Amino acid sequence: MSLAIVRWIAGPVLHARRQGPFALRESVRVGPQGLLGEVVRIHDDTLVVQVYEDTTGLSPGTEVHGDGQPLAIRLGPGLLGQIFDGLLRPLSGTGSNFVQPGLRAPSTTRLHFEPRLAVGEVLTHGAVIGTATDAAGRVQRCLAPPDAAGAVEQAMPAGDYTETDTVLVLRQGDGRLRELAMSHVWPVRVPRPVQRRLPTQAPLVTGQRILDSLFPVAQGGKAAIPGGFGTGKTVLLEALAKGCNADVIVYLGCGERGNEMAGVLDEFPTLTDPRSGRPLMERTVIIANTSNMPVAAREASIYCAITVAEYFRDQGLHVALMADSTSRWAEALREVSGRFGELPGEGGYPAYLSSRLADFYERAALVDTLAGERGSVTVMGAISPPSGDFSEPVTSHTKRYVKAFWALDVKRAQARFYPAIHPLQSYAEDARGFAPWWAAQGNGDWLALRRRLLTLLDDQAQLERMARIIGKDALPARQQLTLLCAELVNEAFLRQSAFSEIDRVCSPARQAAMMKLLGRFIDMVDAAGAAGATPEQVAALPGLRALQRMGEEVADDQLPKLAELQARLEREFAQIAPTGTAPPTVTTPPEPRDAAHG
Ligand SMILES: Nc1ncnc2c1ncn2[C@@H]1O[C@H](COP(=O)(O)OP(=O)(O)OP(=O)(O)O)[C@@H](O)[C@H]1O
Ligand SMILES: [Mg+2]
Repeated sequence: MSLAIVRWIAGPVLHARRQGPFALRESVRVGPQGLLGEVVRIHDDTLVVQVYEDTTGLSPGTEVHGDGQPLAIRLGPGLLGQIFDGLLRPLSGTGSNFVQPGLRAPSTTRLHFEPRLAVGEVLTHGAVIGTATDAAGRVQRCLAPPDAAGAVEQAMPAGDYTETDTVLVLRQGDGRLRELAMSHVWPVRVPRPVQRRLPTQAPLVTGQRILDSLFPVAQGGKAAIPGGFGTGKTVLLEALAKGCNADVIVYLGCGERGNEMAGVLDEFPTLTDPRSGRPLMERTVIIANTSNMPVAAREASIYCAITVAEYFRDQGLHVALMADSTSRWAEALREVSGRFGELPGEGGYPAYLSSRLADFYERAALVDTLAGERGSVTVMGAISPPSGDFSEPVTSHTKRYVKAFWALDVKRAQARFYPAIHPLQSYAEDARGFAPWWAAQGNGDWLALRRRLLTLLDDQAQLERMARIIGKDALPARQQLTLLCAELVNEAFLRQSAFSEIDRVCSPARQAAMMKLLGRFIDMVDAAGAAGATPEQVAALPGLRALQRMGEEVADDQLPKLAELQARLEREFAQIAPTGTAPPTVTTPPEPRDAAHG
């Protein structure tokens, strides 16, 4: 083990004179407590180390020992259902609210291992070596490390082992033996290898109408959620974690206030998974690095989280990673960079902010795994731009790497219109590609309907500007009807309470039915307007109220109610405009704004 001696310390950064070889990015142990750190610069005989723990009490002369490997975490069947700190050290089950310095003992819990390979068989890179079953009966696949391959020399019988007990011995190509356990260690800054990355195909179903129907993110895609203070980023990420169709959820609380994280930590263990009826935590990993934890660890936590997500992807699973918030991560980068004495760039952030964001988001993908299965990591990152200004560096650089942009709007949030996603500031570059998927869900007109709703919302913004000048009543009847339709789209479709039992998650089938009903409603309004019905007459139709409340009132398994509602509206419209009930010829509206990105 190489040794270095501390010369100078400032917060999370120290300089040490090396007495042996060290590698860049090598992980190190500092002082008698073995505080975890990482070599970030090497100048001649001086190491610059960022320390992931509180350095209070360290002084010049303290010893720094190299680990001989980059900063790495242990990946294995013990991860699911657990809560960890930013360096993947368990926070749950330690009996303490704080992580012990330097502690990173692997779990000693025994799991039942069932081998998949016998002596003499050949193991290929990243293959499944067996399954692990925990006390609750959950089965997980155990993967060989991506860099291990060879002939099985020895295989332990089925039985109970800890995550680190040897269960398989390989004879590698170079003739050397290698012991494998149910878990393995992987460096967090290195993307885990795959057979191939694939173009995205299907959307990640989030259960949020405004996202799935207007601004879908791909399974294996990336989305940003920028939003000013209190606009609903955390509530939205939590709603996604609870309602999306991923197999595994990795939830990263990064630099948020402790009380916000406490909400997640208290709530998640009590939630039931709507898909299985079992606790949601069973397929969740929470990584919590709150604002009071050491700042450098926050920088690393984002890589730990994505490495964990990749590990589950490599088992052929679809993983959703929620990061709240990437701004706090960028602030950690800025703070540590300042301590290095680096020249600050835009907004005080280091010049490499953009490439670091890219390193993170680029790891989201739909892939064929080394073991030949299909898996994905979808990344959704919240951004907290200071004073809600989306031109600031973190938001603008993130925009370069994400395909879906879900902009939370202060005005909508103030009006308690949730989710406060602004339909004209948001976009989804992959949307066009999902038309076949929506057709398979029973909405063959999805793209045209989506375009229609977005155009209507765009018209609304313009008409409202005009109405502010001349007064709403001075607008021609047709334009007042357009405003009425837009209002309904907002209220009936885009508004969705995260706290409503029926509406917190909306199935694709229900979204499709609601969207089609709204399309038909807009046709009826157009026809009624053409036949001379006044805006007041339309607004007074009793069925409108039921339409407005359909999200809250019609559950996923009650779709025939929507057909009844449509029949009711047809009857009511026939009364106010008897000649105009035939659907008008629909002119295809122009492309929505975000089509330019696609
Ligand atoms: N979808 C929603 N449905 C109902 N209420 C919501 C919703 N989203 C947000 N809220 C309300 O807004 C409040 C603030 O939301 P949240 O904590 O998610 O904001 P935030 O953007 O994460 O704030 P911060 O910038 O402080 O992190 C919530 O406590 C809740 O009352
Ligand atoms: Mg928040």
